[in-house]
Amino acid sequence: MPLDNVSNIVLVLSGKGGVGKSSVTVQLALALSAAGQNVGILDIDLTGPSIPRLLGIESRKVTQAPGGWLPVEVHKARREGVNSAHTDTPSATAARGSLHALSLAFLLPSRESAVIWRGPKKTAMIRQFVSDIRWPPGTDYLLIDTPPGTSDEHIAIVEELHKLAPPGQEPAIATGDNTNLNRQPRLVGAVVVTTPQAISTADVRKELNFCQKTSVPVIGVIENMSGYVCPCCGEVSSLFSKGGGRIMSQEMHVNFLGEVPIDTTFVDVVEGKATDQQDVLVGGAVHEEQELFERYQGCNLSKIFAGFASTIQENVIDPNPQHRNILANFLQSHLTMSPADLEASNPSAATHETPLLANTRDSHAAKAAQGNASSVERVRRWLRTFLDSKYGHYSVFLLVSLDITSIFAEFLITLHICEHKRDKGFNEEGWEQVEQSLGDIGLAFSSLFVAELLASVFAFGLSYFKSPFHVFDAIVIVLAFIIDLLLKGPLQEAGSLVVVLRLWRVFKIVEEFSTNANDKMEDLYEEINHLKRENEKVRSESDNAKEEIGELKRRLQSVST
Ligand SMILES: Nc1ncnc2c1ncn2[C@@H]1O[C@H](COP(=O)(O)OP(=O)(O)OP(=O)(O)O)[C@@H](O)[C@H]1O
Ligand SMILES: [Mg+2]
Repeated sequence: MPLDNVSNIVLVLSGKGGVGKSSVTVQLALALSAAGQNVGILDIDLTGPSIPRLLGIESRKVTQAPGGWLPVEVHKARREGVNSAHTDTPSATAARGSLHALSLAFLLPSRESAVIWRGPKKTAMIRQFVSDIRWPPGTDYLLIDTPPGTSDEHIAIVEELHKLAPPGQEPAIATGDNTNLNRQPRLVGAVVVTTPQAISTADVRKELNFCQKTSVPVIGVIENMSGYVCPCCGEVSSLFSKGGGRIMSQEMHVNFLGEVPIDTTFVDVVEGKATDQQDVLVGGAVHEEQELFERYQGCNLSKIFAGFASTIQENVIDPNPQHRNILANFLQSHLTMSPADLEASNPSAATHETPLLANTRDSHAAKAAQGNASSVERVRRWLRTFLDSKYGHYSVFLLVSLDITSIFAEFLITLHICEHKRDKGFNEEGWEQVEQSLGDIGLAFSSLFVAELLASVFAFGLSYFKSPFHVFDAIVIVLAFIIDLLLKGPLQEAGSLVVVLRLWRVFKIVEEFSTNANDKMEDLYEEINHLKRENEKVRSESDNAKEEIGELKRRLQSVST
């Protein structure tokens, strides 16, 4: 089976080019390897592969073996205490997992060779990458570096991975010795890289939507190039704006993994130079022959990435999908299901099995993680999904519409009473009772709006108030509720104020409409892109058919002459 030696798969994505996906992929790989995990890197950036350059293995070639291609070895696994050529650095004897990589660059004749391929050819190449690469047995993590945006490569890889490893699915068997029988890889999710600037975070939203549409869980967002590490003192200073990634993550309800500053020592590391810290450690010795793994341990960024690596490992060990930050909108596509159904559709959420990497975490850790899956969290998750969904928007829309209708009805009845109360036979008491009932209905709506507000704050946390619209809406709801309550008492004259406040909620309807329209637009864009791809496929098939017809005609001519 393809990828049968791989346990977990992590995609690295970004909306824009040059934000540091490949650097993040390499550093995550080094950090996971430092944590004792065997790692593979698959570079599917077919037109701009940069993994071989970053790993310093550009001249290496892929070996063809009977079962498929063998990836290039970057470094071997090492057990603790093994002597190496550089025993004077602390990292030289530290345990580590192996690191292998495969990129199209290893198959091209030279670095300058350009790849200009149409969609179908790229798709075929990705399929071949998935089916024909023999990753070493016991590969714990396969990190996939992707091109920017959401192109043919992304669609092809996600299609292939879903065939092999539906999101969240556990591998069939996890054993303690790293050699798993019957093992299926698991698509843990995607790490999305952005830079702090708004233009980059805007593109990341598209990337998150892509994850949602293709049911890829989001492990978290990394804000790269966030500030600058002084090469002399190691202090981080801000160059541009900062924190865009964190705010965007909060808005999109995905995990924020952290910020990574620009660090010139990282550039030295990938260029084969030792960092200053290492020079100090070994008295300024020359380190050109040091492995990338050792060089990276002296880089300031290695500590940050050690944290990211442990978060990824927690995502793998933690069977709770909420902790894995599955996009709320991924669940939205399952909204017709109850929370229990949602869990049933995600086996890892419903089952309380032994963690898949029994060799890296003990069962106590898994039990602790399972304990966190409290019912409160489940309700919160469900509420968030519901309020974000079109059904949630429709419910608010319906409530606001009914409320406004009752306001107008009350208003018309008040006018009617005023106009006719002196008429003979006019049932003033009856009409006043209707007016009173409408007042009670108004109070009921106010209470429902307060409940909706509390539910939103419970579901989204205080980040709900990041939007000024929500702040104003909350003030209106609370004020209208208080005045509505007092209206029952001595403040009846303030009634007109309540009506004005409650009418504000017309804007809520507009907001609900625009949210739904945006959802529809995104679906339409997605459909257009799909049709474009189909069109391209059909066109290339027709080109091939034309070529075949031409060939047949030529053969026919040569036979007849
Ligand atoms: N935190 C960092 N500190 C210093 N240099 C960095 C950092 N992150 C990335 N770089 C450098 O920025 C350049 C671009 O990074 P990288 O190739 O990883 O981006 P990318 O998103 O993969 O680009 P592409 O979209 O072209 O694939 C590289 O030379 C890399 O070394
Ligand atoms: Mg890249």
